[in-house]
Amino acid sequence: MVESVHASKVLIIFFSLSGQTKGLLENLADGLKESGAMVAWERLEPEVRLRFPLGSFAKTILMMLTTFFRQRVPIKPLSVSRTAGFDLCILAGPTWSYNPSGPVLAFLDRDGNPLLQGRTVLPLISCRGYWRLHWFGLRRLLKKCGAAVPNCLVFSHPHREPWRTLGVFLQIAGKPLSRSTFWGRFYKRYGHSERQFEEARKLGVELGQALAAGTPLETLNLRNKIALNLH
Ligand SMILES: Cc1cc2nc3c(=O)[nH]c(=O)nc-3n(C[C@H](O)[C@H](O)[C@H](O)COP(=O)(O)O)c2cc1C
Repeated sequence: MVESVHASKVLIIFFSLSGQTKGLLENLADGLKESGAMVAWERLEPEVRLRFPLGSFAKTILMMLTTFFRQRVPIKPLSVSRTAGFDLCILAGPTWSYNPSGPVLAFLDRDGNPLLQGRTVLPLISCRGYWRLHWFGLRRLLKKCGAAVPNCLVFSHPHREPWRTLGVFLQIAGKPLSRSTFWGRFYKRYGHSERQFEEARKLGVELGQALAAGTPLETLNLRNKIALNLH
């Protein structure tokens, strides 16, 4: 634990359907706290609870279609009413059909401007592998809200294709590939790896130290090899 006169304060605003974003954030928060930062949480709660897995191929295909057209998922009122006093807001969630998820889009529509105007916002993206359109779109929306967006944290699932795409599709439908004795050899688990969760913790430490030192977040390399599965 690093002692500092003024501990950096970080607000994590997030949505997670299947627990992947949440797992990354828990590790990131551990790292931030290790570096002396204080962390507060705001979970985006859909008004109508979303089920995971969806339970059928038809529901999965329908969700992929509606999310492609950026359908919003209405969310309950937030518990946080102001972000003044936070040095950084992290806005985190999964990619849904090349876009930010429906609850994050609903959050930006309703609360984006009042809460994020003039704030520094660092997005964290959890995805199967295609994050660029999500990142470009999210950055544009955040800038429209008046936020400064210095960088982005991205984690993609560390599996080879076609198992990665197939694995995610079947997981959402509720028929996990990893449970098949034959196909499970090619896709052992859905989502991020232990190495990525550990990497999230290390990035949390790095981020916390940068905040404490006043290092511009633009200069941090937050998208490295393990996170993006480029090895
Ligand atoms: C409806 C839907 C659409 C998705 N579309 C994409 C996509 O376009 N690109 C991608 O890389 N991952 C896509 N994914 C996969 C998720 O981004 C990925 O599984 C993520 O790790 C889930 O995070 P969460 O557990 O926090 O919800 C999609 C998932 C769902 C449910």
